[in-house]
Amino acid sequence: MKKTCVIGWPIAHSRSPLIHNYWMKQHGIPSLYEKLPVEPPSVADFVRALPASDYLGCNVTIPHKENAAQQAAVVDDKVRKLGAANTLYVRDGKVHATNTDGEGFMASLRHDHPTYTFLGKRVVLLGAGGASRAIIDSLLGEGVAEIHIINRSIGRVVPLRETFGPKVMAVQPEHQQSLLESADLLVNTTSLGMEHEPPLTLDVNLLPATCLVADIVYTPLKTDLLVRAEQRGLAIVKGLGMLLHQAVRGFELWYGIRPAVTDDLTALVEADVLRASAT
Ligand code: ATR
Repeated sequence: MKKTCVIGWPIAHSRSPLIHNYWMKQHGIPSLYEKLPVEPPSVADFVRALPASDYLGCNVTIPHKENAAQQAAVVDDKVRKLGAANTLYVRDGKVHATNTDGEGFMASLRHDHPTYTFLGKRVVLLGAGGASRAIIDSLLGEGVAEIHIINRSIGRVVPLRETFGPKVMAVQPEHQQSLLESADLLVNTTSLGMEHEPPLTLDVNLLPATCLVADIVYTPLKTDLLVRAEQRGLAIVKGLGMLLHQAVRGFELWYGIRPAVTDDLTALVEADVLRASAT
């Protein structure tokens, strides 16, 4: 049976093999998921050669998500809108591209807070990169009322508004406090707070007691933002859930079985993150 893989540059630290190989073993599928370092100039060749290769498809990670979207023969609406793909699969000899990051975020939030409702909610979102785009798309799909973006480079919010419309707004510094005081959902999509990155400084005491706080950073497993939010009594969503849940659809597209994000799998990947943090 053909294999699957994740392509990126660098790729050494990817946890995707741990996730997919766990599911293959669980379902008795005789395949293998590998890490494949692909240099940026080689992405187009890799994608073109995919149908005749040893691979059924692959995940795509930094810095290849935009390039992969351009090289695929068939892209779905999400990839067209986001301009980035994280999952490629071969159908009838053609490379198809999709993006499961947004549904991964949403499924993770729903897993942790099954009764949470999005309709009419006010979101404050930190960051304006690729992850931000995927999450904005999903949140708008769930019917949130407004998404206010806080980003270091305020100019990056303009294209977001062009893609997603007037519900997406840049936060002016003088309005930041009042927006935090009325936020229903706060999401960090920046790398701030990640191990070896600068800290995220945001006063969680400004947030209302009903605000849900989500972080997509998962090294550490519980970021300082989430620790402080919990100390303040707020509900939280940790970042690892998005990584686990974004993988579900890819596995289903390649192997025809929709796998589950079990407590066992979560513990396995958490242990790997902790092990890496300790070294
Ligand atoms: P991803 O695809 O993971 O979203 P990205 O497109 O590189 O990655 O986006 C990273 C986000 O983190 C951006 O919002 C970036 O802010 P800028 O748009 O101003 O670059 C934010 N970010 C990264 N490092 C940061 C830092 N040191 N301070 C503030 N924001 C930072």
